[in-house]
Amino acid sequence: MNTSTPEFDAHETTLDDHRALQWILEAIDRALLERTASTAEIGTLLTQLGGVLIQLFEQEEEGGYFADAISHAPRMVARANALMAQHPAMAATAKAIAQNAHHGDGSDDWWDRTQELFRAFVDELGEHELHENRLLQEVYAQDIGSHG
Ligand SMILES: [Fe+2]
Repeated sequence: MNTSTPEFDAHETTLDDHRALQWILEAIDRALLERTASTAEIGTLLTQLGGVLIQLFEQEEEGGYFADAISHAPRMVARANALMAQHPAMAATAKAIAQNAHHGDGSDDWWDRTQELFRAFVDELGEHELHENRLLQEVYAQDIGSHG
């Protein structure tokens, strides 16, 4: 994408953040399947996930392409705000899972529980992103429809 409009620059940054998110999610998923890492290593990966999420959420909330898109479609504001309101709760959940991992004993129960918490979180995050993408698609479709 070679256009230099601020919207598209912000979009590129968000795509980088999404790649970082994808990388860390896959690393955790793999580590939870292999079960060879220490509890501290799993805790560190989960803490990194929390950091990536906070960065991604900030990007979406402040001056990201999401905010730009919403400014073109005021009727979407309530839905966008409801989605943004999920960010602090998801950041807190990621932190809680990381703390649970750091305090773990490495038992089978602990691995099962951590995997269960992580998978539930991935589902929640996926649902959230699906709704965001749907909202953005509607905004762009409307924008193109009204200007093109
Ligand atoms: Fe989001």
